[in-house]
Amino acid sequence: MTKNFALCAAIMLALTGIAQTGAARAEGLDPIAIRQVGMDLQAGTFGFIRTVVAAKGDVKPLEAPAKALARWAATIPSVYPAGSDKGGNTKALPEIWSDRAGFEKIAVSMGEAATKLAAAAKAGDADEVAIETKAVGDQCGACHRGYRAK
Ligand code: HEC
Repeated sequence: MTKNFALCAAIMLALTGIAQTGAARAEGLDPIAIRQVGMDLQAGTFGFIRTVVAAKGDVKPLEAPAKALARWAATIPSVYPAGSDKGGNTKALPEIWSDRAGFEKIAVSMGEAATKLAAAAKAGDADEVAIETKAVGDQCGACHRGYRAK
């Protein structure tokens, strides 16, 4: 019994070690798949916002999707953990990790623009919504130019 307990403790310790070194893939979470699908959903959400702005439609319904973009922007850095620079068909460039501050700054700027977009939508201010839609789009482009392979 004591022997079994010792063995059990040793296995637990070994597993803890594995869990720590493999944190990026903990519980089967694949950061590359998550960020790619997140980016795709974001593209759809942002596409909807742009369509409404271009059609000069009612901006009020854009509050919720803009809030979702802001929340996603705050999440972006976490789906680029160390060690996820290679694998799958990732287009993430090494600069994401070598220039982390620059990468995170763009995500923050995108989040700020999306938060302003949500507030403008809530207020029904179509002109301000259009300005912030462009500001969000500028951050997509800036990040892709510096941190995503063609
Ligand atoms: C802070 C950086 C950053 C911002 C901001 C950003 N992206 Fe990306 N995006 C990336 C990176 C890096 C990849 C490549 C991810 C990979 O392949 O692992 C990517 C991939 C994508 C993809 C391809 C996903 C796939 O299926 O492989 C789409 C679509 C996309 N982004 C759309 C957008 C749109 C639209 C916005 C703005 C609303 C945006 N992105 C904002 C960094 C960013």
